[in-house]
Amino acid sequence: TTTHDLAVIPGDGIGLEVTPAALEVAQAAGRRHGFGFRFTEYDWSCERYRREGAMMPPDGLERLRGHDAIFLGAVGAPGVADHVSLWGLLIPIRRAFRQYVNLRPVRLFEGIDSPVRADIDLVVVRENTEGEYSEIGGRMNRGFPEEMAVQEAVFTRAGVTRVLDYAFTLAGRRGGYLTSATKSNGIVHTLPFWDELVEERAAVHPGVRWDQEHIDALCAKLVLQPSRFDVIVGSNLFGDILSDLAAAVAGSIGIAPSANLNPEREFPSMFEPVHGSAPDIAGQGVANPIGAIWSAALMLEHLGHAAAAEEVVAAIAAVLAKGDVRTRDLGGTAGTRDFTAAVLALLA
Ligand code: NAD
Ligand code: IPM
Ligand code: MN
Repeated sequence: TTTHDLAVIPGDGIGLEVTPAALEVAQAAGRRHGFGFRFTEYDWSCERYRREGAMMPPDGLERLRGHDAIFLGAVGAPGVADHVSLWGLLIPIRRAFRQYVNLRPVRLFEGIDSPVRADIDLVVVRENTEGEYSEIGGRMNRGFPEEMAVQEAVFTRAGVTRVLDYAFTLAGRRGGYLTSATKSNGIVHTLPFWDELVEERAAVHPGVRWDQEHIDALCAKLVLQPSRFDVIVGSNLFGDILSDLAAAVAGSIGIAPSANLNPEREFPSMFEPVHGSAPDIAGQGVANPIGAIWSAALMLEHLGHAAAAEEVVAAIAAVLAKGDVRTRDLGGTAGTRDFTAAVLALLA
């Protein structure tokens, strides 16, 4: 049987609670489909930062490199500045391993009370290595009246083209419709370049209908008419915002999964829920594990087990449709373990 060699970084807060749930479900799916996992757990976290002064060891990226995939819970803890935890772990992994596509599917499952009544089945394709999340700039004149912060947004022809091609191709395999998130009304100077590249790539993918929306209007439409959308492509920051928004419209950000993909497979891809470490509910056993479990399903698909991945998503859907086991963010009373057990029972 195939054994996949997985790097596991539970991280901080609810990352420590939802990661075991996701791995158990992945293993259960593997037993049904004849594959297994070898897990190597790394304790890289804010806890480690407090102990050793760094989120991960100096050779951390080298150690991850040989694994088939990476599963991450979430990082971030009160008392450690977010820029330390994020630039010390999450962002370097996405960049070093050229995970330039951040794939974030959103579905409204039966049995969830959404603020909107609509069919929602869309995917946010988020550019994941450049854009607004650049390292060019900084804080100056700290403490003086002249204090300021500057950060250059970086959009490269190669970087935008590759994520657009991924999004057009994905749209071609789904509903054949792509929406580009932009802000091209002359205020932001980088996005007219993004728009030009969208037109250029559209010509290479003639089978896909496409549209563009200003990010502010797009946020409103995602709330009012989410069924209109199929694949939405956006820059790093726009994609980040759209993915939490769309997830909340579909019930809770606790549901949302993500795949940080290196489509060329030169490096391992990383799978993690969209949500963070949720310090406000950490340690209580009440976190919704769906985002993590669905991320594990995306990982199974990436590892070549599409049928197993579908079963996992179907099991999540079945438990939600039955309606008796739901976590607090979805209006229920179940804990992380209860929901996980209900999914595992269907995969037994
Ligand atoms: P967050 O996603 O952690 O929490 C936002 C809100 O959603 C909170 O009220 C939280 O309780 C709730 N929530 C999140 N996930 C949930 C779940 N699975 N079940 C139920 N409720 C859930 O976002 P935040 O508050 O902006 O950030 C908290 C920390 O997490 C910060 O340190 C931030 O930097 C970090 N963070 C890390 C990642 C990551 O590692 N990938 C992602 C986002 C935020
Ligand atoms: C996410 C998170 C991260 C991001 C933060 C924690 C840096 O919000 O994965 O969506 O913005 O990419
Ligand atoms: Mn986010």
